[in-house]
Amino acid sequence: MAALEQEIAAILKSMEHQVTIRTVADRRYHLAERNGQQYVIVLSRIGKVAAAATVTTLINVFGVQSVLFTGLAGGIHADVKVGDIVIARSVYQYDLDASPLFPKYSVPLLNKTFFDTDEALNDKIAKACNDYLAQDFATAFEGNKRPRFFQRDIPKVHQGLIGSGDVFVNALEKQNQIAEQMPSTLCVEMEGAAVAQVCYEYAIPFAIFRIISDRADSKAELDFNEFLNEISPHYGSAILTRLLDQLASS
Ligand code: ADE
Repeated sequence: MAALEQEIAAILKSMEHQVTIRTVADRRYHLAERNGQQYVIVLSRIGKVAAAATVTTLINVFGVQSVLFTGLAGGIHADVKVGDIVIARSVYQYDLDASPLFPKYSVPLLNKTFFDTDEALNDKIAKACNDYLAQDFATAFEGNKRPRFFQRDIPKVHQGLIGSGDVFVNALEKQNQIAEQMPSTLCVEMEGAAVAQVCYEYAIPFAIFRIISDRADSKAELDFNEFLNEISPHYGSAILTRLLDQLASS
């Protein structure tokens, strides 16, 4: 799963001749086979409701046995720089607050704030990311794209907490507020914790990895759009391709 086309365009393109498309509730589900494994690839569009509706269909209609969500995110923690990769160990909804009825951030009646991702999948994602960075990154982004879009010579792979909310965070004030209230938050995005909650309720293993497109500050909109169009199509999909090949061989 991803929210937007640019985030997984190359994967879709590499499979375009072998896919069957089924449309359910205005989403196009691409059914594909790669190395003998069956995959369903879908764009959820942006936000928690869109993501929850889409993953529910993946589970109920297509019977998926695990879920991977990828896409861009805004950096919150000071060490999370543009171009870095964040693999979620757990996720929470930073905009969920039913207090004083329920503790802030806790999903009412489920009594759960943090949803853990699948460790075995995380290890495979980490390997795909590290292999990509060691072997392909330098040639994929040569010339002036490197300093323009990457804050480090070689991006860092982080693992930890991701916050989700129905907000595009584009102000230092909001970024600081999230960091102060939940200091371990590495980055923010708009779908992960919704997918996590649904997967948890269906007992389906899930994983999320995100590429940092912006620092969730006043430049976020510009940085996000440029990264989405110029970098994303060549970056996330290349890691995904490695991951799918690795999943097939394990
Ligand atoms: N995805 C990428 N950048 C983001 C931001 N700043 N806020 C929310 N979601 C994002």
